[in-house]
Amino acid sequence: MRPESNVVVRLEDYRPTDYLIERVYLDIQLEPEAATITSRLSLHLREGTAPGTPLVLDGDALVLRRAAIDGVELAPDAFEASADRFTLRAPPAEPFELQIVTEVNPTANTELMGLYRSGGNYTTQCEAEGFRRITYFLDRPDVLAVYTTRIEASRSEAPILLGNGNPVETGDVAGTGRHYAIWHDPFPKPSYLFAMVGGDLASIHDTFRTRSGREVKLAIYCERGKESRCHYAMDSLKRSMKWDEDRFGLEYDLDVFNIVAVSDFNMGAMENKGLNVFNDKYVLVDAETGTDWDYAHVEGVIAHEYFHNWTGNRITCRDWFQLCLKEGLTVFRDQEFSSDMRSRAVKRISDVAKLREHQFPEDAGPLAHPARPTAYREINNFYTTTVYEKGAEICRMLQTILGEDGFRAGMDLYFRRHDGDAATIEDFLACFADATGTDLSQFALWYHQAGTPILITEHDYDAADETLTLRLRQILPETPDRQRKSPMHIPVAFGLVGPDGQDLSFSRATGARVDGSVIHLTDLQAEVKLEGVKARPIPSLLRGFSAPVRLETDLGMDDLLFLVGHDADPFNRWEAAQTIAMDLLKRATEEIRQGATPVFDGRFAEELGRLASATELDPAFRALALTLPSDMEVAQAIRTNVDPDAIFVARRALQTHLGDRIADALAAAAPAADASYRPDAESAGRRAFRHAAWAYGLAAGRITSADLAEAFHGAGNLTDRLAALRLAVHRDLDDAPALLEAFYERYRDDPLVLDKWFSVQATVPQHSTLERVQALSRHPAFSMKVPNRVYALIRTFAAGNPVAFNRPDGEGYRYMVDMVAEVDRHNPSVASRLTTAFRSFRMMEPSRRAAAEAALKRLATVPELSRDVSDILIRTLE
Ligand code: ARG
Ligand code: ZN
Repeated sequence: MRPESNVVVRLEDYRPTDYLIERVYLDIQLEPEAATITSRLSLHLREGTAPGTPLVLDGDALVLRRAAIDGVELAPDAFEASADRFTLRAPPAEPFELQIVTEVNPTANTELMGLYRSGGNYTTQCEAEGFRRITYFLDRPDVLAVYTTRIEASRSEAPILLGNGNPVETGDVAGTGRHYAIWHDPFPKPSYLFAMVGGDLASIHDTFRTRSGREVKLAIYCERGKESRCHYAMDSLKRSMKWDEDRFGLEYDLDVFNIVAVSDFNMGAMENKGLNVFNDKYVLVDAETGTDWDYAHVEGVIAHEYFHNWTGNRITCRDWFQLCLKEGLTVFRDQEFSSDMRSRAVKRISDVAKLREHQFPEDAGPLAHPARPTAYREINNFYTTTVYEKGAEICRMLQTILGEDGFRAGMDLYFRRHDGDAATIEDFLACFADATGTDLSQFALWYHQAGTPILITEHDYDAADETLTLRLRQILPETPDRQRKSPMHIPVAFGLVGPDGQDLSFSRATGARVDGSVIHLTDLQAEVKLEGVKARPIPSLLRGFSAPVRLETDLGMDDLLFLVGHDADPFNRWEAAQTIAMDLLKRATEEIRQGATPVFDGRFAEELGRLASATELDPAFRALALTLPSDMEVAQAIRTNVDPDAIFVARRALQTHLGDRIADALAAAAPAADASYRPDAESAGRRAFRHAAWAYGLAAGRITSADLAEAFHGAGNLTDRLAALRLAVHRDLDDAPALLEAFYERYRDDPLVLDKWFSVQATVPQHSTLERVQALSRHPAFSMKVPNRVYALIRTFAAGNPVAFNRPDGEGYRYMVDMVAEVDRHNPSVASRLTTAFRSFRMMEPSRRAAAEAALKRLATVPELSRDVSDILIRTLE
């Protein structure tokens, strides 16, 4: 580990820069191994700063070629330049222009931060601190400047040249075979939103007329030959643009909007102003190469990046501690968009399942941090599910508390007050407080206190008084920051389910504040008395998952079964089934560890069977109800001394138990395959239901290997084909090897589809999957250098295969540590994401825990470990 890895950046140390940059003029000469960047910065002192204060610019792995002020070359003693810093010792007191020439090697840039080449195309990634790998700059989000970019390249190598903002001019450089394009972005922006692209790219084009009548030219660029797969992304973009006008009154503000899909990308996508750059996984889909999952995610990520134009770009973050200001809010916005495009209930259930699978474990382990952190070593490690998904939950709670109109009033004020600003979480909350006259000081704790609160409830019904008493209590678990926590404001949406399944009303509420159908728990404990409740109700609490907490109620099996059958809130109907399943799985896991054979209460199967056959319900919803809590969720619920093998055996036992009782009903209720593929939510839901029917049919032995092989070969789309493949491979059926072979042959030239082939094999729930993954990592279609491949095989193995990763002999851990060390040498951010697979190691049973700890300690001895990996390691071992 390098000593500089341990430097901590703190929120309390924030102070504005001494200098401001008004305008940036960049001239970028593209060459594969030596790109030359000439930057001209119009600089001036901030009011109140002493003239002569040295100017210190950020750099990272830079080589300086020249430096001048107002056209005059700097004397050698006027400045100091190293790879990571440029200092101007005594800058002029009056506004001046600093000219800096740097040189970088895009081909050698394997970190994929800054300017790099992917598939022969030049592209950039600047968030969070990549711009300093292109030129020296005040590379922080609160320095907003107007950029003009001139890009020059060989016309044959890079016929397409794209920049931020609007196109200004293009032309040839006579006699050189080179050409150039000039782009100008009139909106002041921080450097992390800078982008440029150069390459030989195919494209599709369209237009969008904004509601004020401006015509915007839209284009999506991708690798040649893939352009036919861009149409769904284009359609999603147009729907996003329309939706943001309708829902939030937000219009697009440039003449063009360009999207570029690249195949080497660390994250999902990037919202550079007017020039979004995407991991091609979130752009390219068609019926042959995209699954229902892919379609939904293309739609969601396209929307997410587009929505950043207002929440992120027009209003950006003051510093990186405020990341959640743009990310949490934008995730909330894309969730709302997808809910409007698809089924709201299904979207909500999927989002909550994802939150529990990923965010809850993060929040319960050594990497837990508040949505608005106060310290970091490496900001790249804070693009987390807490900042994104918990951040979105906080916005959703705000809407629940203020109502849709109040929330919209706060948003409107936010855009009026802060357009053009680099803002903070405090600024954001103040808009909602001011627009609605609400005190949000306690609510703000959601941004500042880490950990998932536990909400414990009890209820009592007094038939004579027709009064229901609810007692609520919150527990705030300890997190690594060890801060003493104050009670949170938890909005508990609720209903009272009456004996006929209809919601009962109440005439009066006393005790804790109740607003309509929301109880506001603001103390550690509170009581609510609801009067005028005519019959004994079953309280349905936390409807729609109104707060990101772990709910523990006093409802018994009978009440939960009734909710599965009747709750008017579809989320809680699903939730009741999950609660029962979780209870059964936990108990069965314990029995298996005691050497006993689990016995299950048969009433659950009965109720689930009824629900699954209820044709008036959306098939997608029914498919979700049939999905048991994940192994990770069960492990989280058990919390200590976890044995992943026992959890897995318990799951298989419950699947068999349920399958024996409901497989026939499911087969009867399963809709037939559509004649042709359509990606809409309804069709996708029918497919999901059919696949659930297959899974239970297999568990019960009603479906054979040959049946699945037939389904595989007869499939008219990738979703069905992949579902059949996954079941065959995970159940280790006779036909599995042949199906894997057939799948490979069909898609051998399609890396994104082969990623699914790698993932299916990486998640086979057997100890021997480790050897399988090791062999696959030597497959010609695999590459350690391409993030999508590494994620598909290595990360999926570690994060999606608890049985094999947590092998009792510790080999899974040792392998992962080797992979982290190997990837870290060329791509630290991918390596650090692999390292987070260890975040829950302390909840394992003692021998696994010891093996994981030993592996991590060995990783810590690797010389020259990046700051990214060191940071995760330090915190995981703390
Ligand atoms: N702002 C991007 C998004 O959410 C994520 C970029 C993160 N990049 C990084 N290197 N950490 O859409
Ligand atoms: Zn984002």
